[in-house]
Amino acid sequence: MLGIMNDGGPKIAPSLLSADFAFIREQIALVEEAGADYLHIDVMDGRFVPNITWGPKIVRDLRPLSKLPLDVHLMIVEPERYVDRFIEAGAQLVSVHWEATVHAHRLMEQIRSKGARAGLAINPATSLDVLPEILPYVDVLLVMSVNPGFGGQKYIPTSTAKVAGARRLLEQRGLDVEIEVDGGVTLTNVAEVVRAGADTVVMGAGIYETASPAQTIRQVRKACAR
Ligand code: DX5
Ligand code: ZN
Repeated sequence: MLGIMNDGGPKIAPSLLSADFAFIREQIALVEEAGADYLHIDVMDGRFVPNITWGPKIVRDLRPLSKLPLDVHLMIVEPERYVDRFIEAGAQLVSVHWEATVHAHRLMEQIRSKGARAGLAINPATSLDVLPEILPYVDVLLVMSVNPGFGGQKYIPTSTAKVAGARRLLEQRGLDVEIEVDGGVTLTNVAEVVRAGADTVVMGAGIYETASPAQTIRQVRKACAR
């Protein structure tokens, strides 16, 4: 089982998109010491989304800086061309977008066969109706609660009902798939997202752009405690 087991609260995946890369070693240590569960790494190609970030080299360079699983979110076209390289660079979880590939099933199998967990991300406009056929091959369902491309955007309110719908779908089908929610999650709305059914919350600005990221992580745990 990847990730540190905690008190039944959500897994917390700080997004390095909002970290200061000039001090990345310190920025990672800060969240790891505060009890983060994954490091979320957003890969953008300037085509699938209107922004550009990093490639596999950054994953390789970050790998020795932390014991946490690296959760790589690929917002790129033709992800099948690159997943192997991200896994070889050290990613334990690789998520690709449903909207970016015509062969999602093949891609999930490709990721698993390379020894990583397979994540499927869906944009806010993508219906849960596309999921039943593919979910048995998915380890993590990444529900986007903003349109991907930038950190610090506002949470789309209808995402809460979508997360609840995804949770119901998994229960109806008896499937053990982790639900990860990404975009606009902050201390203010994290409890709502978790109550709706999120196992894991990605938080970029909601952690790194607060006065004390470590303190915020502790407050998130408290806000979600049952
Ligand atoms: C958005 C990315 C997110 C982003 C989240 O395209 O996929 O992971 O970093 O950042 P916040 O939490 O600031 O919305
Ligand atoms: Zn992301």
